Amino acid sequence: MAIRKVFSLAVGILVLCLFLCASSSKLKSNKKWHFPRDTRKAFSGYNYKTYYFKQQVDHFGFANVDTFPQRYLLADQYWNHNGGPIFFYTGNEGDISWFCNNTGFMWDIAAEFKALLVFAEHRYYGESIPYGPDAFMNPKNLNYLTSEQALADFADLINYLKSTIPGAAQSPVVAFGGSYGGMLAAWFRMKYPSIVVGALAGSAPILQFSGITGCEAFNEVVTRAFERESVECVNNIRASWQLINSYGITDVGRKLLQEVFHLCQPLNASSEVDTFKDWLAGTWTSLAMVNYPYPANFLEPLPAWPVRECCKYLSNPAESQGLLLDLFAAISVYYNYTGQATCLDISQQGTSSLGDMGWDYQSCTEMVMPMCSNGVSDMFEPMEWNFTQYSDNCYKKWQIKPLLDWITTEYGGKSLESASNIIFSNGLLDPWSSGGVLQSQSRNVIAIRIPDGAHHLDLRSANDQDPYDLQSARVQEVNILKNWLNQV
Ligand SMILES: *[C@@H]1O[C@H](CO)[C@@H](O)[C@H](O)[C@H]1NC(C)=O
Ligand SMILES: *[C@@H]1O[C@H](CO)[C@@H](O)[C@H](O)[C@H]1NC(C)=O
Ligand SMILES: *[C@@H]1O[C@H](CO)[C@@H](O)[C@H](O)[C@H]1NC(C)=O
Ligand SMILES: *[C@@H]1O[C@H](CO)[C@@H](O)[C@H](O)[C@H]1NC(C)=O
Repeated sequence: MAIRKVFSLAVGILVLCLFLCASSSKLKSNKKWHFPRDTRKAFSGYNYKTYYFKQQVDHFGFANVDTFPQRYLLADQYWNHNGGPIFFYTGNEGDISWFCNNTGFMWDIAAEFKALLVFAEHRYYGESIPYGPDAFMNPKNLNYLTSEQALADFADLINYLKSTIPGAAQSPVVAFGGSYGGMLAAWFRMKYPSIVVGALAGSAPILQFSGITGCEAFNEVVTRAFERESVECVNNIRASWQLINSYGITDVGRKLLQEVFHLCQPLNASSEVDTFKDWLAGTWTSLAMVNYPYPANFLEPLPAWPVRECCKYLSNPAESQGLLLDLFAAISVYYNYTGQATCLDISQQGTSSLGDMGWDYQSCTEMVMPMCSNGVSDMFEPMEWNFTQYSDNCYKKWQIKPLLDWITTEYGGKSLESASNIIFSNGLLDPWSSGGVLQSQSRNVIAIRIPDGAHHLDLRSANDQDPYDLQSARVQEVNILKNWLNQV
């Protein structure tokens, strides 16, 4: 049983979303969408102001009195300046302006709610980096990169805004977030219920932790997204690992792999064949996450339903070099949809380096999300979850050891009895739905499932290709938000 780098899949996937979930939002007429059209703006056109708040580095001790500038973005053009609500995006692992530009739903509904929009950057990402550019060189400087500190930042920032913006003192605040940002939004409501009246947590895998969700679940959902298009597609991908291994053991075989896949670099050693397989596996995973119903046009321009496009090349039985060529055609949907790629670089998956370091550190401290595969209930090469190995790798990189169970202790894991006013929305095509809250827990901890949705599709701006279940999910979300705001 091959045990490959345990990290490759888990790390960087949330980050990935940042870039890949950002597809074109078009200013097209949209007959199915019930919100006024003039509230919608093109992707590049959102109008906000940038500010910096002097934030405490350490909220949980008194010895360290250092501060750092926390960036936040503010849009008040829709706001009722006399106590209108505040919609507060709990920033996740990256540049906050990306999230701002790609959380079109908040912009779409701002006018209807007369809401003030605030997007707060997460510490150690974007421009909000305590100890500046050297932060990542010294583990001591990274000691304050935790979700608890980030939530405390949000709480302090909200109190500051309410005490300084005229008309905001009585404004109810609703938290919004997607992916890790969605986890933060939900946890924010749980930990600071006096500060936020409720939270919309999009694609928030708060259950993707040890002892709650099995390590195999994530890869099974990826596999289902491909199986939905064709069983043969899954069979071909499942068969590909063994085939690649057989080519990977000889110089001639590795040369052939490089040629067939138009790789930028030669595969010099069998360890690089492992990197190649990780890259392929990561590509299938990314495709499942961004399997949106309309063409996306961002760092990796993609067609509508990219998994379907991929599987068109993998829907016939094939073997040997024929299968390799089919695989190449399939991943070219992802890497070369525009026909502009000169070669494929296995050190990249369409992500930029932005945020990678921070998330790598977080997944080596609190955010340990066990992942594995068995090649039977999923289409991946068997890969065990081995926490010792995971921890050793973390120690090598950051001189720290991860805590496997802390997040569950801190936030309660699946015990949501005392939580209230949270919407957990999940697209069922999204691999991260494996760790999502898919069942309503009570009258006001509500799960919304979007069968045809990929990763936090509901938080994106309206599009005329939006499936019906997505549209009705958004209507439901708006109604619930109104309910919360009517109760305060
Ligand atoms: C977000 O949009 C603004 C314009 O509204 C632009 O200035 C900014 O660069 C965008 N941010 C990113 C990361 O694309
Ligand atoms: C593989 O070998 C080539 C030529 O010998 C070299 O240029 C390249 O850097 C090597 N690739 C890696 C990833 O080490
Ligand atoms: C990308 O597509 C174009 C057009 O089909 C092709 O000429 C080019 O070789 C492709 N690039 C790679 C890296 O496969
Ligand atoms: C897990 O990894 C450690 C360190 O690499 C190794 O010693 C151990 O045998 C592995 N455990 C299993 C069950 O494979």
